Formats: sequence, C-alpha cells, structure tokens
Amino acid sequence: MSDDWNDYADGWDGNSDVRHYANRAFAALDEDAGISGGGWQARRVLDFGCGTGLLSEKLAPHVKEVVAVDTSERMIAVLQDKALPNVRALHADILDGSAGGAGTGLSGFDLICASSVCSFLPDYGGAVAVLAGLLNRGGMFVQWDWLASGEDASGLTLQRVRDALGAAGLGSVRVEQAFEMGSGGQVMPVLTGVGFRAAE
Ligand SMILES: C[S@@+](CC[C@H](N)C(=O)[O-])C[C@H]1O[C@@H](n2cnc3c(N)ncnc32)[C@H](O)[C@@H]1O
Repeated sequence: MSDDWNDYADGWDGNSDVRHYANRAFAALDEDAGISGGGWQARRVLDFGCGTGLLSEKLAPHVKEVVAVDTSERMIAVLQDKALPNVRALHADILDGSAGGAGTGLSGFDLICASSVCSFLPDYGGAVAVLAGLLNRGGMFVQWDWLASGEDASGLTLQRVRDALGAAGLGSVRVEQAFEMGSGGQVMPVLTGVGFRAAE
C-alpha cells in the first residue's frame, strides 16, 4: 500500500467502501446537527482532508460555502474537476501555521469536518488544536476515524480522541462508536468525536 495519497486519487470515487463511509458520516452528522433542515444556509464549513470531496459534495447544497483542503494535489485536482459551485477546493497544508490570517477565508468556520483523516496525521492532538482555533464561537468540530482496539492498534482509541478534543479547548465533547464498515468479511468500527468552541 502506497503512503502517498496522490496514488489513490484517480480511483477514489470508484471505491464503494469510501463512498459508503462518506454516506454514513454525512447521515450521522445530519441526524446530529440537522444540516439538511434549512438552518445551515448561511454557514461556512471546512472539510479538512477532503480527498476528492465526497463529503463536501453532500454538505455543499445545504450551506453557504465549503472550503475543502487537502495536502494531496491529485485529490484536490479530482475535486476541482467536479466544479461544485460553492466548494472552494484548496491544495494546502493548513496545519503549518499559515492558515487563518485576515482575508484568507481560512477561519471563521461554523463546522469543521475531518472524515478519515486524523488517525493518519503525525501530530493528531496538535492538529485538533489548530483546527479548533479556526472555528467561530459556538462552532462544531467533528471527526470520524477507525476505532482502534488498543493503544498500539491502527486508528484512534475513544480515550485518545476525548483527550485531544479536551486539550484543544473544545467543550460538550462526545466520543463514541458511530457506525461499522464491512469489508472483505471483516467488520471495522468507526468512531466519531464531536466538540464545540465555547460560545463566549
Ligand atoms: C483516507 S483519505 C480521506 C479522504 C476524504 N476525507 C474521504 O473521506 O473520502 C485521507 C485524506 O487526508 C489527507 N491528508 C493527510 N494529511 C493531511 C493534512 N495534514 N492536511 C490535509 N489533508 C491531509 C490525505 O491527502 C487524504 O486525501
């Protein structure tokens, strides 16, 4: 398996497992936050580690703008080819400290989603802290990742996510198993972590 996400870009949308993962993540988020209910039309969303934008596509019709960022140039190229009207697709590393400056549009988000991204980051806790700083007051952070069976297993443990969201200053934190993915006879649990930036 390649460790360069660019190598997966062309075949990403043809993979029924990743499409199913995005469908399940959006359904869970919609149930939780009522995205499709009409109340999000003026709100801005960051899809962090958006890949080819499978989640951005679902969010975009219900919000003002989706800023979709990814460090893989080819994933972003696939998303740009979709020409989604209110999706701004950016090839950028927003964790490097350069994001969020005045006029960049890379801060002031009402919702930040990270779907199957956080467990692949070298500094997961540091990333959540940066992302939390890009939220508007009262804004919501949500992630989905493979649920690890123990500290040394791949994915993230519920406790690690609780610790990271708490250390990033997020409140009303909820971390739990969200859904399961079945593939090749294996069932793999997916966790969700949700937290909010304080309103005041
Ligand atoms: C498993 S894919 C998930 C893609 C998409 N969220 C989805 O669910 O289809 C992980 C993605 O995270 C991106 N990624 C990894 N590190 C990143 C970083 N520091 N900033 C932004 N994106 C990153 C990769 O390039 C890749 O597109």
